[in-house]
Order: sequence, then C-alpha cells, then structure tokens
Amino acid sequence: MPKSYSDIFEGNKKWVQGKLNQDPDFFNRLSKGQKPPILWIGCSDSRVPANEITGTDPGDVFVHRNIANMVIHTDMSMLSVLDYAVNVLEVRHVIVCGHYGCGGVLAAMGQKQFGLIDNWLRHIKDVYRIHHEELDAIKDETTRGNRLVELNVQEQVFDLTKTSIIQNAWDNGKFLQVHGIVYDIANGILKDLDVTVGDNSELEGVYKLNGKRKVIA
Ligand code: CO
Repeated sequence: MPKSYSDIFEGNKKWVQGKLNQDPDFFNRLSKGQKPPILWIGCSDSRVPANEITGTDPGDVFVHRNIANMVIHTDMSMLSVLDYAVNVLEVRHVIVCGHYGCGGVLAAMGQKQFGLIDNWLRHIKDVYRIHHEELDAIKDETTRGNRLVELNVQEQVFDLTKTSIIQNAWDNGKFLQVHGIVYDIANGILKDLDVTVGDNSELEGVYKLNGKRKVIA
C-alpha cells in the first residue's frame, strides 16, 4: 500500500520496467490505439480493479466505475462512455460487475442518511422495492445484502437494455451482449449471474424503442 504520494511513481517505474522486460513492444503497441472488446461497468470500490481480477491487460477493457456499479439514465458520464464504447470502439460485450459486501448497496438497505450520496443510492432502494417480496423473506442480513447485490446487477443490465444506445445497436444488427456478474472479495471469484441478453426480446413493451428516428419538426 502506498504510504506517501511519491510512492506511486516508484511503483510506476517498477511496473514500466516489468512490462518492458516481458514485452519490449508493449507501450509502443498500445500507443497506436485501442480496440477493446469489452465495456466494464463496475463499482469504484478499491478492491475490485477490472483488469486485475479478469487477468486482462491495458487495452483489453474499456472501464466505467461508480459507486455500486449503477446505470442511471441521467448520468451523462455513463451514457457517454456507453455511447463511445458501443458506437466508436464497437465493443461486443458490456459487463455490469457488482461485488458482495458493496458499501453502497448495504447503505441503501438501511434508513441512515449519508448526505448527497443518498440521491445516488435511492436507485438501489428502487431495486429493493421491485424485489421486496424475495428480499424481505431472507432473514439473515448478510445473505439479504448479497442477494440485493445480485438483483441490483440484474436491474442495471436491464437498465442498459432500455437505452437507445443499446437498442439501436441491436436494431442495426450489431453483435452486442450485456452481462451481469458478481465478484466475491472474500475469495476473488467472479460469478456469472446468467442474465445475459443479446436482443430486445425480453424487454417489456413500454421500453422498446422504434429504431427509425423520426425528425420532429
Ligand atoms: Co461497491
């Protein structure tokens, strides 16, 4: 763990040297551009670094992280990342990755106020409300929190498919799958939640958008 700010530059020097020892062309190759096949939407939690836990390298994964890996339809940052990833980089997979013990999800399960972040976490309360019958039936709080983590990922996958960005990609015949996975900090294992979608057939009618854009005069 870095003890002071300057430690990160020491760490960087060692990392650069290590990479060059493995592959002298590493940085030269990356400097020419990126074509990652995956967009990762994960939690900001310091224990869930996308590249490291997936054994991938720089250039492999386009990453967006926020508290509790949320897909919120007014979040310009998330939408910009998604649009760029789908339409410019042409990723083939969008992954929402949650993690057990997520502080954001656990905070959303309670009634305590935390300040500004409550507005962000409220979206997780909405997930709880949608699945309250299943969740209220789980008496053990840790188990209930873990299940909410999973259901939250599932709803964020669903929220991605509601966007015009994803729906237009499908409408244009692009191969694009949206996946939901959960990371277990306690053992390092990634679990596929088996909620993968690759077309709009599971989308409720009210969310389906007409592919043809009409000009509104
Ligand atoms: Co988290």
